Amino acid sequence: SMMRDISGVSDLERALGKFMQTKDCIVVPGNTDESSWVKYELGRACLNHMKDHLKDQNTIAVTGGTTIAAVAEALTTDFSNKELLFVPARGGIGTDVKNQANTICEVMAEKTNSNHMVLYVPDQVSENIYEFFKNEPYVFEVLSEIRSANIVIHGIGEALTMAKRRKTSEEDMKKIVEGKAVAEAFGYYFNENGEVVHKVQTIGLQLEDLDKIDTIYAVAGGESKAKAIKAYMKIAPKNTILVTDEAVSKLILKG
Ligand code: F6P
Repeated sequence: SMMRDISGVSDLERALGKFMQTKDCIVVPGNTDESSWVKYELGRACLNHMKDHLKDQNTIAVTGGTTIAAVAEALTTDFSNKELLFVPARGGIGTDVKNQANTICEVMAEKTNSNHMVLYVPDQVSENIYEFFKNEPYVFEVLSEIRSANIVIHGIGEALTMAKRRKTSEEDMKKIVEGKAVAEAFGYYFNENGEVVHKVQTIGLQLEDLDKIDTIYAVAGGESKAKAIKAYMKIAPKNTILVTDEAVSKLILKG
């Protein structure tokens, strides 16, 4: 019955929260790999939770990917009574414009009648170029907004899927494969133990900055992400709220 389904999900949330040792887990019914609307449900669940955790003024840093794009789709004008500024978490990772953090920020701002900033920084450039970029007045401003974000919404991906999507160089691909990466988040590639085996060189939020952020949403579902979610959650800051689906939750708990 419907009631049984609902309590089934909350049992999963409790079990998963305990397993992950994280602040909170939110589980939505279904399997993201099988039905694309589950991504939208992940988005709605994330936003529902976020609604109760907003301050009067919020800076929300977001990453790219199809899941976070679905979070943007699920946003409504309900959020317009609070001050929101959307910023991309990191510059330039990924080539797919539609699902890029910059584009997602724009959609989120539009949907909530609020503001956003963009960060266009190419990947894999030399140290000198980074120094130059960081001191550009606009970039400098975006970077300080990112660092003072009170909320982060990010995706988690399967390592090889992400490396291919990003047209990763042969040399970096080798690091990812030989390092046995299974997870990717924020441009960092992790092995099964949650150790970083490769990192995309770009400016913006760094992994170590996450500890200072009040509320972090890791939004990822689908059985294909089981290893990725498990690995990333090993090192995720304790203030991470995992928003995921039933199918992958069950798979992770099965061990
Ligand atoms: O490229 C941004 C990003 O958030 C990655 O860090 C993550 O691995 C990926 O997108 C997830 O993409 P998707 O939601 O499409 O699976």
